[in-house]
Amino acid sequence: MSGDLNVDEDLLDSYEGTIPGHLAIIMDGNGRWARRRDLPRIRGHRAGAQAVRSVVEACRYLGVDTLTLYAFSSQNWQRPPEEVAGLMTLFEIYLQRERERLLENDIRLEVIGNRDRLAGVLRDSISEIEEASANNDQMVLQIAVSYGGREEIVRAAQGIAREAADGTLDPDDIDESVFEDHLYTAGRPDPELVIRTSGEMRISNFLLWQIAYSELYITDTLWPDFDESALLDAFHDYEGRERRFGKTGAQVETVENTGSDG
Ligand code: FPP
Repeated sequence: MSGDLNVDEDLLDSYEGTIPGHLAIIMDGNGRWARRRDLPRIRGHRAGAQAVRSVVEACRYLGVDTLTLYAFSSQNWQRPPEEVAGLMTLFEIYLQRERERLLENDIRLEVIGNRDRLAGVLRDSISEIEEASANNDQMVLQIAVSYGGREEIVRAAQGIAREAADGTLDPDDIDESVFEDHLYTAGRPDPELVIRTSGEMRISNFLLWQIAYSELYITDTLWPDFDESALLDAFHDYEGRERRFGKTGAQVETVENTGSDG
């Protein structure tokens, strides 16, 4: 099934470590990449779109189940109008150009975020590919566009409040699982690993609920330079981590060695 993936198979095959089931990436540094080359910012975003193509295919090849990419935050609407317009055009072009490759490679596309603010034509393209890819089961590609973690939590609270008000949900039954069911990411597992490029030590309103226990990996590499080997560096680093979920190291070891909480 990997025949049509445009990847460096020798390089990716050399990695024998753990692959996160759900990888989420804050793609940052397009502007700096462009500035260093004396280019307009949009050229950085275009180079960033190339990196998206390559990382999507590498993740599909390596067996990542869910890949979530932070492409445009709710706060990014405040950027200069020409940059916002350029980014929206890039998303549209990406969807058109990648549609067939996503389908051929059995990748399911989902867009998370507030679609009301997107242009009708982009909304239609998103819905069309989401429907066309709905039965694909090799990888879920979630692209966060016009997305904000706090907004997502507020929206979930509104949905829950509405159901409680009209009597279809008992407030005593509200638990973490009910809450999760009202997030954009309902039905998807939480990310095991979050990568942020370009060295900033921030979460920037990304998946606030979902990353409660995620491992964080921050690299100075700017997003347009983030390639397959940078991805493997992140996986190597993740491989060495011990995920404790609030337990002690000894408890985690017992579970790993005996398969029980012993
Ligand atoms: C942050 O870098 C990046 C963005 C706001 C846009 C991300 C968009 C892409 C990677 C390209 C298209 C995406 C898809 C899914 C096709 P920045 O502009 O804040 O960089 P800076 O901090 O160096 O200025």
